[in-house]
Amino acid sequence: MSRHPCRDISSDTMQPGTPSPVSWRQDGDVAVVTVDHPPVNALNTAVRAGLIEAFARARQDATIAAVVLAGAARTFIAGADIAEMDRPPQRPSTLDVIEALEQVGKPVIAALHGTPLGGGFEIALACDFRLAAPGTRMGLPEIKLGLIPGAGGTQRLPRLVGMERAMAMILSGDPIAAEAARGLGLIDEIVEGDLVAAAIAFAREAIAKGRLPARARDRDEKLASLRAEPRKFEDMAAAHLKRTRGLRAPACAVEALRGAISLPFDEALAREWAFFLELRASEQSKAQRHVFFAEREAAKIPDLPKDLPRVTVATAAVIGAGTMGGGIAMCFANAGIPVTVVETSTAALARGLGAVEKNYRATVARGGLGTDDADARLRLITGTLDIEAVRAADIVIEAAFEDMRVKHDVFGRLDRVAKPDAILATNTSYLDVDAIARPTARPQSVLGMHFFSPANIMRLVEVVRGAHTAPATLAAAVATARRIGKIPVVVGVCHGFVGNRMHRLRSVAAERALLDGALPQDVDAAMTKFGFPMGPLAAADLAGLDISWGMRKAQGLRAEIADSLCEAGRYGQKTGKGFYRYAEGARTPLPDPEVEQLIVAASARRGLAQRPIGADEIVERLLFPMINEGARILDEGIARRASDIDVIWIYGYGFPVWRGGPMFYADSVGLPHIVERLRGWAAQSGEPGDAPAPLLTRLAAEGRSFASLADAAT
Ligand code: COA
Repeated sequence: MSRHPCRDISSDTMQPGTPSPVSWRQDGDVAVVTVDHPPVNALNTAVRAGLIEAFARARQDATIAAVVLAGAARTFIAGADIAEMDRPPQRPSTLDVIEALEQVGKPVIAALHGTPLGGGFEIALACDFRLAAPGTRMGLPEIKLGLIPGAGGTQRLPRLVGMERAMAMILSGDPIAAEAARGLGLIDEIVEGDLVAAAIAFAREAIAKGRLPARARDRDEKLASLRAEPRKFEDMAAAHLKRTRGLRAPACAVEALRGAISLPFDEALAREWAFFLELRASEQSKAQRHVFFAEREAAKIPDLPKDLPRVTVATAAVIGAGTMGGGIAMCFANAGIPVTVVETSTAALARGLGAVEKNYRATVARGGLGTDDADARLRLITGTLDIEAVRAADIVIEAAFEDMRVKHDVFGRLDRVAKPDAILATNTSYLDVDAIARPTARPQSVLGMHFFSPANIMRLVEVVRGAHTAPATLAAAVATARRIGKIPVVVGVCHGFVGNRMHRLRSVAAERALLDGALPQDVDAAMTKFGFPMGPLAAADLAGLDISWGMRKAQGLRAEIADSLCEAGRYGQKTGKGFYRYAEGARTPLPDPEVEQLIVAASARRGLAQRPIGADEIVERLLFPMINEGARILDEGIARRASDIDVIWIYGYGFPVWRGGPMFYADSVGLPHIVERLRGWAAQSGEPGDAPAPLLTRLAAEGRSFASLADAAT
């Protein structure tokens, strides 16, 4: 009879005749059980059923004295099948698998390679021994999907490595390397060469010794002292939870971990499982699972020929050593790729490279990088005033001033000096990539690679496909972005591409909310409560209000309040005043009565009546016009998928991952509600651009969602 409490899940219905993804072979008295379920041996229902069958056989078969559990191809089991999680849970569960494993009654040795993660790692924790190939990375990443481990991870890991390490691993979700795991006692041996053969030999030794170590569930030596000092647990938990505002999973993880010191093992397991089921069904986890797949979809470009040559970038060049140029150069250096930075004056070059060095030194001081590593990365960055130096580069990224004449000058010169098959990318954040390509005789080699500031940290790159960009250029740019650790999303050419085009709508909406009576602190509080790490107006102050002011002036546009602030010399944090005021040398935005007066005056000039505006209304007013623009962007084919827009906003603009991105959020709010609101505002403003987009209106009328567009496309 099942000992664990997961009786509320339905029974599995395996398709008869389907080959099992779990195979069995015998090497003398050792059974080798191998999971072979490409691409990552995810633990779906069939794998779980196959494992239970194999463990039962190992228990019953008197000729078997030990079991080696391994994964075929690239990895040991990389966790639960995330795609299965949108359906009701199915028996057998991973807890059932572990129960069967614990009943084998013979040594079970996990042979780990690749990425044993989540449920795969939990199964390994229940084994008697764990061997690993060098380079194996293991851990419990569930928190990144809005979940917690549901098969004993919160109970076995602290018993094996102590609470502090276990909490850090579970709350960060970050994997650890085999070498570190060995140091923690999680891994018995690191094995060079044939892992399974070594595991079989190890099994024979274990059989010969006869005595097994205590199983993880029965060990207590690393937790006993913590029970005597409950304060210590609370302090650890508080330190982790202070950065997880709005998220349910971290709080559940802490509660489940608490069970390891406050409850008997099986009761704690039941509690963990209950939390897991709650989170699995939660909107937060659904959103995070959507983002997991959205991120992977974004890298796929269906219309590219399959047989494109693989291009490997060996050297890079960046034009411009400003904040963006320096950050981009760091991305290449961080990936071990030598990069040349070209500037036009010695002073600008020294300033730019100085900022890069300062940045690396700060990371070293924070403990994020060793001095040797920082030095090695710095050595990969070379500065020059001579554009001829780009001759060797496989990719050149232009990060010069946002002015078409400057871009033309740079691309004209690049055309003369860059090698024939080099990728010529512009980091422009809104200019026409096709126009930028015009002075070259090779527009097929030109595209946009729009990084986000700070470029060495932010993971998004909008890869802008021009009218003439060759498939090979596009594929190489996407591959390069991935190689330097970025999340590339392919977009089309339009003013501001996807992210900034939608962002402009949010800025306009924030202005309107201010004119109608909200204060900057109201707007920012509503958006941080929604989940953004920073309010849009505090963020504008940080970026510098003069930048967007300059862009508006160039286009003959006006933003009543932001422009008035700039006209009063309030450029944001750098001048100590913007939408807020800042104490000397401080970064905390402080409400400023002068700004309030300025807003009231601007509102009066327009004859508007001010009224208080609640947080929910602010969120709707700022997000719905953006979503509307997202619908237009989709309709125009500037973004290929609604989920691409979600990825852009999550990784480029801090949209809360647990809301799934603006288009996923729109689906969760319901498109008819958004259409109704937009219609109301359009009627008030009389501006045709405020009206709901045709695609949005159509989907709402048909009772469909943005997600249904992807379903229709597949
Ligand atoms: N369930 C379902 N599908 C999964 C999966 C999982 N746990 N892990 C990976 N995949 C799929 C991906 O969607 C992708 O499919 P696609 O090729 O159709 O796009 C494919 O496997 C390869 O994954 P990818 O992430 O592109 O490969 P990678 O080599 O860069 O990384 C992993 C491999 C395992 C490290 C990474 O996929 C990962 O972190 N997976 C999630 C692990 C996890 O969270 N497990 C616990 C779940 S509770």
